Parts: sequence; C-alpha cells; structure tokens
Amino acid sequence: MCGIVGYVGHSNAQQVIISGLEKLEYRGYDSAGIAVIGKNGMESAKFKGRLSVLDNYLKDHPLEGNIGIGHTRWATHGVPSDENAHPHFNQDKTIAVIHNGIIENYLELKAMLLEKGYQFRSQTDTEVVAHLFDLYYDGDLLKTAFKVESEIRGTYAILAIHQDSPHEFVALRCEAPLVIGYGKGENFVASDIPAVLEYTRDVAFLENGEIAHVTADNVVVYNTKHEVVRKQPFTVEWTLDAATKGGYDHFMLKEIHEQPQGIRDTINTRMDAKGYIKLDDIKLTKEDIAKFDKIYVVACGTAFHAGCVGKYAIEKLARIPVMCDIASEFRYQDPFVDDKTLVIVVSQSGETADTLAALREAKRKGARILSITNVVGSSIARESDDVFYTWAGPEVAVASTKAYTTQLVAFYMIALNLALAKNTINEKHYFELIDQLKQTADILEEMLKDDSREKEVAGLIKDKAALFYLGRGVDMQTAKEMALKLKEISYIYAESFAAGELKHGPIALIENGTPVIAVSTQSAMVEKMVSNIQEVKARGAYVIGIGCEGDSLLASVCDKVIYIPRVDDLLTPLLSVVPGQLIAYHTTCMKGFDVDKPRNLAKSVTVE
Ligand code: AGP
Repeated sequence: MCGIVGYVGHSNAQQVIISGLEKLEYRGYDSAGIAVIGKNGMESAKFKGRLSVLDNYLKDHPLEGNIGIGHTRWATHGVPSDENAHPHFNQDKTIAVIHNGIIENYLELKAMLLEKGYQFRSQTDTEVVAHLFDLYYDGDLLKTAFKVESEIRGTYAILAIHQDSPHEFVALRCEAPLVIGYGKGENFVASDIPAVLEYTRDVAFLENGEIAHVTADNVVVYNTKHEVVRKQPFTVEWTLDAATKGGYDHFMLKEIHEQPQGIRDTINTRMDAKGYIKLDDIKLTKEDIAKFDKIYVVACGTAFHAGCVGKYAIEKLARIPVMCDIASEFRYQDPFVDDKTLVIVVSQSGETADTLAALREAKRKGARILSITNVVGSSIARESDDVFYTWAGPEVAVASTKAYTTQLVAFYMIALNLALAKNTINEKHYFELIDQLKQTADILEEMLKDDSREKEVAGLIKDKAALFYLGRGVDMQTAKEMALKLKEISYIYAESFAAGELKHGPIALIENGTPVIAVSTQSAMVEKMVSNIQEVKARGAYVIGIGCEGDSLLASVCDKVIYIPRVDDLLTPLLSVVPGQLIAYHTTCMKGFDVDKPRNLAKSVTVE
C-alpha cells in the first residue's frame, strides 16, 4: 500500500524514481506522482491512475534534477484523484511531501493551520504535513522534520524535500516501512527493497521514530531523542530478477511455479546432519514448550488460512490446543492470552498493520511471540521473540500463492518440532513425515507441468455469477483459501462452506448449473463428502471434485475431477490448494482482468 521512493545523487532523479515506483507497483495504488528539484526549481506531476499515465506525461514534460521524491497512492482520506495524489505541497510549492499511512490527528492540525491562513488543495490527511513543514521551516530541513514529527500522530513513512535546499531530503518513519539504500555518491529511501536493488544491495531499515537525513554522500539516522543512530547495513542476497516476471505473463503465474523451490528452500536450510529439523531463529526450549497450555494463531487473509491449516498440524502432532483469530478482531476480544500462551503471528509482508497491532497486544499480555514471515527485517520479524522466515523469495502479485504454501511448510516444521519436544510423536513417524514433506516439492513440480484441467474449469466458470467451495476438516481450510483467491482477482462471488453445514442453510443457494468445487482429500471423510456432493447434485449443481489419485468414488459422483497425487492426509493442503490457485488465475486471464493488481486491493495493508 502506497509506494515511496526518494533519491539524491548524480543520476537523473526522474528515471530512478519512476523505475523504483514500478518495482513497488505490487503494493497496490490508484494514483502516482513525483517532484524533482533542478535548475528550474521544484517541478512536479501527479495523476490519478496507473504509473503509466504519469510516465507518458513525463515523456513529453521531463523533470530535470538529481534529487526528488515519488509516490504511488492507495487512497484512504479522499477519493483517488489528481489533487489527492502525492506529492503534496506548501502554499508556494517550495516544499514537497509524500506519505504512506494515516495522520490520525490531521483534523486538529488542519484546523490550526486553517486558522493561520493555510489553504488546502486536497482532501488528504497528508497535506497537513506539507503545511507543517512550511510553518516550522527556518532554513534547516532536519530540525523542521524533528518539529513536524513531534506534532503528528498516527502511522507514517514520510519523505520531504525543500527547493531552497536541493542537496538533501528527510525520511520519517512510524509503523510504515522505509528502507535506506546506500549507494556511491547517491542514496535512496524507499518502501521496499526492490525499488533500490538496481542501484545498490546495501540496505538498512528505519525503525519506528527514526528520522533519516539523506544527502548524496551521507545518510545520518536520528532516534526519537535526536541522537545519531549507527545503522548496520546488510547485503541483499536475492536478485532483482527474483522480483521481476522472468518470462511469465504474470507475477502470479511465476509465483505459483516458484512454489516447489520455495518449499525446498524453506525446508532444506533447516535440516541438520542427522535429519532433524533445526529451527535456528527459534530459541524455544523444551521447558518453554512444556509451559504452553495453548497456542493462538493470528493473521489476516491468506496468512490466516495458512494458520487454520497449521492448527490441524499442531493439534494432531503436538496435542496443544490452538485457536485461530483474525488479527483485526483479536485485540478487541480480550483474548485468553498470558505467559503460558504461544502466539504465532503469520504475515507474508511482515508489515500488515492489523497483524502488527495484534502482536503488540499479545506481547502486552505476556505471550511469547513466534512470527512466520517472508520478509527479513520486517516490523513483525523485529518485534517477535522468535522468527521463522519462509524462504519464498519476494512475492509481488497481490494474490498470495507461494507465501501460503511456504507458510504451511513452516507450520508443519514447527508442529513436528513441538511434537518431538513434547514426546507426542515417535521418531519413525517424525522422519516419515519429514520425508514426505520434502517430497511434496518434487510432486508439485510434476503437477505444475500440466494445467489443462484447471484451464478447462476456468472456461466453465468464467461467466458464472457465483461459485461455492466445499470441504471437510482441513479441506475446508483449503476451500476457504481457494474461494479467496477466486474472488480477489476474478471478482466472481465465491464462498466456502463446511460441506456438512450446507444442509443447515447455504444449500438454499444451489440451483441448476451452480458450480461447486468440492475438495476431498481426507481418507476418513471421503464417504461423508460423497454424501454432501450428492446433496448438491440433487439440487442441480455442477460439481468439480479435487481429490487424491485413485479415489474412484469421488469420480463417480462429480461431473469433473482434478486429481492430486496421494500424500499423507496431513500434508495434502500443500498440493490441493494449487488447482484452486490455477483455476483463479486462468479464470481471471479469460475475463481479461489485471491478475497481479486486482481492483481495490493492496499487497501490503499498512492501515488498520
Ligand atoms: C492474499 O491473496 C491477500 N492478498 C491477503 O489476504 C493477504 O494474505 C493479507 O492481506 C495478509 O497479508 P500479509 O501476509 O502480508 O500479512
């Protein structure tokens, strides 16, 4: 959500900023803008719509200069429009500001500024920041930033430049991510690493409350007490290629195909010489584990669905009760969390505001926090006691795929470790499951070679108004994730139900030709699922089954079946979700919608 790029150095700022913003497109946005300072003073352009609108304009009206800031906006305060797009300026357009987040006390500040005669051009909360910079500016941009920061409340990543000082910019961070890119004779600040990776691999994250003062030759970071903080940059190991499409039509398809590798990387880096799982960044001892009387899993969206599958694995293998809660609800429910609780927080981006807020609430209540995240150094990783990094590589498509399957792997590995520590699994079973877990990567690779069945299903459902997904037990969680995937990118109304619950109400929705996707991979549930399928068939549903190879009973009741190879029942979610991902992908392509950047959605949701 909202992408930020700031640059100062020897290159053409416009080019660096636009190419950086392109790498942040995955975050979701509705408008884009840029301000550059050069020999003509402050020049800017901003438009509602895709970055290409701005880019096309700049082709005819280039901005000259070696310092500038650029932004892609995801609307919160004020509709998407040219006026509300960032940057925002002071009255005489000498100061430009871009912002990601929400200034919670902006109404109060706006009233104060209006009283002083400031005029507002937009409906945004951000514009108050531009006027505040104007109010306090006395020739020293850094000192002004300190003053501004003391006045604003909320969540923000802010960059500001001043025409009278064309060699510097400032960056302020509170809850919204900002990364510094250290170059040679040039420096960068951006919302995420891919924006700077073309120019440098040496990066450091700003922490909450920190302000960076950036010039071409230096970056100095200050803490809330205005003391200098020594930052230790780290080197990014992955390549920009990992964050580009690499020959695929869409990031989503590329990321679906990267799942086998993601699974391998997530497992293989954590095996010791004797074949045991070794969770390096998790310092939980046997005694710590013995103390936990329950586990909470807290997350949003797809990460939440991964957590719901994780519950099955942990409860079955380690026999610890697990409760799953949506992060935005968790902290308002006075959850049963204390120092005997392990809270597992799941987030691909590691920056989701709801999840971060839930983490802090759990911490406040004394829980031990274990996070599963894909982004090294993200806010959630930094604030957790223990971290399990999923090595999925950067996930760009808004619809999460490889993050989900690697999160499942994380849960299986954590569950196996908890089980071993609690003696609820024997070594034979432990090694068998590890073996099968490893094999899923190869199995999935094989499965991905042929997506003709999923394309066929996409052709059947693409013009339907609604579609239902059914499942029992852990398959119900897979059904939930499949339904989310389809609705978020194809905009087809999709809902998932526990198959046994259907007859208590939802079956009223079934009519002639209603497509139903029935997930049935659990050997103990096949017969029950078959009965539920018969129930919807009797009401005219067209049923597509997703089951394990060899299940002829399923084939006998469904109109069409997609088979996945048979693995241990506990591990089937790793495979069964993939046909659902591909059905959503192909349906969306057939409908001609933007697969990677669906309407109304952002990749990283940094507001509550
Ligand atoms: C997934 O396809 C969604 N775009 C969304 O539900 C996402 O999983 C959710 O916003 C959580 O994001 P996170 O994993 O980065 O915290």
